[in-house]
Amino acid sequence: MQADPEVVVVGSCMTDLVSVSTRLPNIGETIHGHKFFIGFGGKGANQCIQAARLGAKVSMICKVGKDSFGNDYVENFIKNSVSTDFVGQTGDAATGVASIMVNNEGQNAIIIVAGANLLLDSEDLKKAAGSISQAKVMVCQLEITPAVSLEALKIAHTSGVKTIFNPAPAISDLDPQFYIYSDVFCCNESEAEILTGFLVRYPADAGKAGSMLIEKGCKLVIVTLGAEGCVVLSAEDTTPKHIPTRQVKAVDTTGAGDSFVGALAFYMARYPDLSINEMIKRSNSIASVSVLAAGTQASYPFKKELPQDLF
Ligand SMILES: Nc1ncnc2c1ncn2[C@@H]1O[C@H](COP(=O)(O)OP(=O)(O)OP(=O)(O)O)[C@@H](O)[C@H]1O
Ligand SMILES: *[C@@H]1O[C@H](CO)[C@@H](O)[C@H](O)[C@H]1NC(C)=O
Repeated sequence: MQADPEVVVVGSCMTDLVSVSTRLPNIGETIHGHKFFIGFGGKGANQCIQAARLGAKVSMICKVGKDSFGNDYVENFIKNSVSTDFVGQTGDAATGVASIMVNNEGQNAIIIVAGANLLLDSEDLKKAAGSISQAKVMVCQLEITPAVSLEALKIAHTSGVKTIFNPAPAISDLDPQFYIYSDVFCCNESEAEILTGFLVRYPADAGKAGSMLIEKGCKLVIVTLGAEGCVVLSAEDTTPKHIPTRQVKAVDTTGAGDSFVGALAFYMARYPDLSINEMIKRSNSIASVSVLAAGTQASYPFKKELPQDLF
């Protein structure tokens, strides 16, 4: 139980089941792997955990199954000081899972079964509406039913709560209302490409795709570019600005985008007077730390491990 969260995340929880073997199996084939691990994932939960590790008071609004993966996920939130007041457990579907096979080259094949994530509904949002409307920032993505994400954005918008929308995984026929209800629209290169139909390969392309998203009604667009950092532009300042990140030796970039979004939510909630460029610069720094270690949430830094000039 935690009163008055600063950041509310409405989104997904997934349990990653990862099997590593020298090669991926063929259809109908059974092979031996040499390593297995279970990880906590799902874009919503990842972003929520990163914001919490930086010190924001965070509440997660999501649905998991009434099963052992669901119980473990609730425990994971509690360990990371995330409020679970609005983490529902349903008997009608299993906790979302991603079955991941990885070969020695790091190539993978993945099946995601969203399960309980797709049962988060309007009723759940109504129960959490009081918490959403008093938060500083609300964050959502597209790993739950898109209509539910949109409804959450509208609730936040009506109460003057800043919204960050991460259109991941991207859908080409995104409801145009998403553009209007997002204060910050944060996507990566492939998502920008799917949404605009414009090929994004270089920072200059990201600027052009970003301009197309501004034309659709976004107030502020960030396109993340992996090791290149990101590009930002807004309805007020339509000249795209490239904000580079730190040069590091990346070990595992999985979940870097979620670390970035979680960090941005933290800065918007806790340091609202910083310029957006400064918030992005610091979020780049935090996401660049997340690529230095293996795993998704396992690689997300805590406040105490980071240079204190980021705070
Ligand atoms: N190799 C890298 N070196 C330094 N920083 C990185 C690197 N990769 C990612 N980052 C940081 O993480 C942010 C997000 O990365 P990216 O654009 O790859 O997101 P993403 O594609 O959504 O990530 P993923 O799908 O891997 O979770 C970047 O803007 C940057 O700040
Ligand atoms: C962008 O994010 C999606 C997940 O939504 C991921 O599948 C894709 O590989 C990412 N693209 C890049 C260029 O990193």
